[in-house]
Amino acid sequence: MKPFTDILQNTEYSHDELVSLLNAEGNDRQLLFQKAQSVKLSTIGNKVYFRGLVEFSNICTKDCLYCGIRKSNEKVIRYEATDEEILEACQFAWKNRFGSVVLQSGEISSPAFVKRVDLLLRKIKEISNGELGITLSCGEQTIETYRQWRENGAHRYLLRIESSNPEVYRKIHPKNDFHSFDRRLQALKDLKATGYQLGTGVMIGLPFQAIEDLADDLLFFKQIDVDMVGMGPYIEHEDTPLYKFRKTIKTKQERFDLALKMVATLRLLMPDINIAAATALQAIDPAGREKALTIGANILMPNLTPCDYRKEYQLYEDKPCLDEDAELCRNCLEARIELSGCEIGYGEWGDSKHFLK
Ligand code: 5AD
Ligand code: FES
Repeated sequence: MKPFTDILQNTEYSHDELVSLLNAEGNDRQLLFQKAQSVKLSTIGNKVYFRGLVEFSNICTKDCLYCGIRKSNEKVIRYEATDEEILEACQFAWKNRFGSVVLQSGEISSPAFVKRVDLLLRKIKEISNGELGITLSCGEQTIETYRQWRENGAHRYLLRIESSNPEVYRKIHPKNDFHSFDRRLQALKDLKATGYQLGTGVMIGLPFQAIEDLADDLLFFKQIDVDMVGMGPYIEHEDTPLYKFRKTIKTKQERFDLALKMVATLRLLMPDINIAAATALQAIDPAGREKALTIGANILMPNLTPCDYRKEYQLYEDKPCLDEDAELCRNCLEARIELSGCEIGYGEWGDSKHFLK
């Protein structure tokens, strides 16, 4: 194996080299972070783009074993934000010159839901003069649905693979066709074929997941040629089946640190993609997202979900910003981003350079 400093000079990375980067400690870890920061600055610059996140419904037909809003969690009060509430959040984003919004929900594929999203897309374009970019994150759908939403104005889609190791994927989902790895892969292919900028990602520090799996996750992103990645630490949720494995996993601090190293290593592997500073980082460290921005991430998703709904969208424990309204969130973010040495790309879509190429 090459010395660590030689690996850092690579532009291509083998699986074993990625494992070495993810295992970096002490001085090596600092060198990795410095290198990722310099690759980011020289490739895409120091701008951070905002995507206002609207979690517009927590109704979900799926039962992922890690997720707090899974169908079987009866403690969750289900909600669906009204059109007015959603549009108001989007209006806030537009007026404050956030380039884009992300509409996220639990997974439903009823015709009524599909139509509702169509309408929302059209209205968001209407109220923002066609200026707001729209990302969807509404799970697995048919290719027809993806096409229809694309035609109605969505141009990016986020669908995490959660883990690219089919064995790990199986262990963190119910065993049925509705939760199959192949179905997830097909959805990613369909999204690509329909012309979206494609975003995916994984959870870091899952039960049954090894460092080698994370290296494979990075190679998976490269192989499917993604434009955007959002990945953050797995955080156990008491009301989910996976909670019983909490004693088998890394500490929160270790998961956090590994998540930072994943971001930095991915920046070396795919210099021109968009990488989000995941909200889950902030559930472990109050400055978690800013730390990710410093070492390679360039996208931030301020939460614009109406405050009353936020406590019912707890995918994991300690999810931050539960009671901050959008204005407060914005002010606090601006200050934090400046501290991390980045500049906010107001009023810009901030599309992935990778996609534009
Ligand atoms: N910990 C961390 N992330 C989670 N997600 C869902 N549940 C958890 C959890 N317990 C992430 C998944 C999903 C995204 C919307 O939230 O990766 O794709
Ligand atoms: Fe809702 Fe996984 S629990 S999509």
